[in-house]
Amino acid sequence: MKVTVCRQTHFNAAHRLYNPEWDDSVNQKVFGICSSPNFHGHNYNLIVKVKGEVDDKTGYVIDMKVLKDIVEKKIIEKLDHKNLNLDVEEFKNLNPTAENIAIIIWRILRMKIDHKFDLTVVLYETERNFVEYSGE
Ligand code: NI
Repeated sequence: MKVTVCRQTHFNAAHRLYNPEWDDSVNQKVFGICSSPNFHGHNYNLIVKVKGEVDDKTGYVIDMKVLKDIVEKKIIEKLDHKNLNLDVEEFKNLNPTAENIAIIIWRILRMKIDHKFDLTVVLYETERNFVEYSGE
């Protein structure tokens, strides 16, 4: 029997959507106010989903405290109160859209979470806009 356990957390970060191959007017046309040169912030909500067999002895899929600690240390400490474009190595040459942020978060967590588990990252950029990535 497989169960999905989920850990929800959040972080605040600034970004600017920008493609350096385009001039400012094209960036403005494609990304609108999200391309404003002086950055803007979001309160990101992050849900990490870990799916696996329920262990006979513990009744757990994964110890929630272990999952919490991985997410806090590897993701929240890295992204919270940062300017994603300027402060986070992964976005030096990668547009920090919700899609790309979710992919980066997934890749980091995938290295820390046992491969016997399926891993999904859901990232809310606003209350109504969110993306989901499962590594495909
Ligand atoms: Ni934005």
